[in-house]
Amino acid sequence: MTQETETNFKRHTITAALPYANGPVHIGHLAGVYVPADIYARYLRSKKEDVAFVCGSDEHGVAITLRAKKEGVTPQEIVDKYHTLIKDSFEKFGIEFDIYSRTSSEVHKKTSMDMFKKLYDKGGFEEKTSQQCFDEKSNLFLADRYIVGTCPKCGYDQAYGDQCEKCGSSLSPSELIDPRSALSGDKPVLKETTHWFFPMDKYEGWLKEWILEGHTEWKANVYGQCKSWLDGGLAPRAMTRDLDWGVPVPIEGAEGKVLYVWFDAPIGYISATKEWAEREGKNWEDYWKSDDTRLLHFIGKDNIVFHCIIFPSILHADGDYILPDNVPANEFLNLEGNKISTSKNWAVWLHEFLEDLPGKEDVLRYVLCANAPETKDNDFTWKDFQTRNNSELVAIFGNFINRAVVLTNKYYDGEIPERGELFDIDKDTIEKLKAAPVKIANALDSFRFREAMSEFIDLARTGNKYLADTEPWKLIKENPNRVKTIMNIGLQIAANLAVVGKPLLPKTIDKLCGILNIENKFWEEAGSIDLLAAGHKINEAELLFEKIEDEVVEKQMAKLEATKKSNQEETAVAAAAAQTQEPEAVEESKSQITYDDFVKLDMRVGTILEAEKMPKSKKLLKMLVDTGIDKRTILSGIAEHFSPEEVVGKQVSVLVNLAPRKMMGIESQGMILMAEDTDGKLKFIQPSEAVAPGSGIS
Ligand code: MF3
Ligand code: ZN
Repeated sequence: MTQETETNFKRHTITAALPYANGPVHIGHLAGVYVPADIYARYLRSKKEDVAFVCGSDEHGVAITLRAKKEGVTPQEIVDKYHTLIKDSFEKFGIEFDIYSRTSSEVHKKTSMDMFKKLYDKGGFEEKTSQQCFDEKSNLFLADRYIVGTCPKCGYDQAYGDQCEKCGSSLSPSELIDPRSALSGDKPVLKETTHWFFPMDKYEGWLKEWILEGHTEWKANVYGQCKSWLDGGLAPRAMTRDLDWGVPVPIEGAEGKVLYVWFDAPIGYISATKEWAEREGKNWEDYWKSDDTRLLHFIGKDNIVFHCIIFPSILHADGDYILPDNVPANEFLNLEGNKISTSKNWAVWLHEFLEDLPGKEDVLRYVLCANAPETKDNDFTWKDFQTRNNSELVAIFGNFINRAVVLTNKYYDGEIPERGELFDIDKDTIEKLKAAPVKIANALDSFRFREAMSEFIDLARTGNKYLADTEPWKLIKENPNRVKTIMNIGLQIAANLAVVGKPLLPKTIDKLCGILNIENKFWEEAGSIDLLAAGHKINEAELLFEKIEDEVVEKQMAKLEATKKSNQEETAVAAAAAQTQEPEAVEESKSQITYDDFVKLDMRVGTILEAEKMPKSKKLLKMLVDTGIDKRTILSGIAEHFSPEEVVGKQVSVLVNLAPRKMMGIESQGMILMAEDTDGKLKFIQPSEAVAPGSGIS
């Protein structure tokens, strides 16, 4: 059904919520909004659709002015700083907006003023004068949530003017006992002010029809929230504010007032499109005023009412604009069992991730998508990040590509071999290959990004299993023709992964295309078993992903724990319970490694201090070895070759960073390197002259 509707559209305007430029973006924003939006936009581009993917910084609102005040700088300085930071981290992370604009731009100012003025001239606002809370010390009218006081229902003395966080009652500032300004602590005074209200109540009937009857296909969480708003009844909302930061209200008598940030921010999508169209020589109106354009808003759940109810009503009232066809909002992502909190610094910030874990952009993208809070809130844990990397990206996708490429280089000097006769296992595998792009497209068409990602990994799993089952390395001598067919099919799977994976893991796929020596292909080619022609030459293997060690995630956990300690009011973190799975074996025989692989081995000269035979074992000697760093126990299968007395005092080569392994109840912490002679006798690898214990081997 979605697919049908979609093909009726000639072009797509895709918006991603404009982040507030008063702080950096974190993984919750990425998982909820930017990763799905980017995947979708890239998917459409891969289908050669006409797409405008727009975003930018939301630079107005009272929060930004307060932040500026606190830091003793101007609001412009705040938004300049964060706009640059956010834009830069999106770019580095690989979110490919067609434009990342900002609402402090001139074109935005004009666009939003014009829209307000047009509505105003049509009689679209109600002017109301009322008494509002004013903080004389700060010289500001106070938004409801900047007034605190005692809750009349439960007595909590830190209730906000709009809600008591303790008992959950929704409040109005006049109900608070002993109200105070959250800014100065002073008692607010009432002061008369005039504002322009958008009569939401008048659009209730229209909205009910448009959403509740017309968009039953929207995600359940979105539809449900709209329904409860509409069932609760809508009231007029002020679209202007008394503030000195924002877009001026373009009517006489409104001096010193600005547009409400939620009036101007969504118009930012339109301004950004204008700026982009200007740059690209396109007509922006095609993307906003043409019925054959599909408008989609990607947002988090806290923005649903603004994008499904308020903004569409404004567009409808204007009369010239198309309305969103869908608003695939996500729920929230938690972090290690707790709500992400900017104020408590309980977050993984994108710019810090990029610095701490360089080159792991697609790992994060993968984990956030595989774990996206699509239908309910979800949890991000570093342990899960590590496990998904090690046992899915490394052990399945990376391992498959590596095998296919290494063997092709080894057997055919990198040239794709011809396919010959097909057996059942080949035919089954090809069936799966052909089905995968259809499944992935269906999932993407319905905004089921997790499912798309899991189908993608399944295709890699199919490839991995195919090679494991057919074992070309065992057939290469006796049946080289069979191996040609197997390798050809394996490589076609690899090329298909490059096509369907591009929207999902763009940086990795660029690398994969480099290895396969192909250009980026379009979606229409997915499912073909002739993506790589026989004779086409591929490049050397390069690892797509690397294993993430415990230390890496432990460091990130420690960083989080440190913020926790400085926030005493927080509850204890639930211990991360997930167990790391060992990745599947990577190679059936030893293949080439890079220098980077080599330097991962920490080999040193150590001295054997003590040795004894392991009880009940013929082979094992238990030794205490001085590695220069420490004295540790190492078990080695050399008891049939050496007596304990013989080995004590010897200098030997030790691989010290081998993961510890338990044998017969004792943990062995490293490996002693031995040479095995042709007659099977073992010899120690020793320095030609005595060296200090701990001397590195390289
Ligand atoms: N800045 C808002 C937020 O972070 C989102 C604005 S979306 C827009 O919640 F539509 F207003 F642009
Ligand atoms: Zn209360």
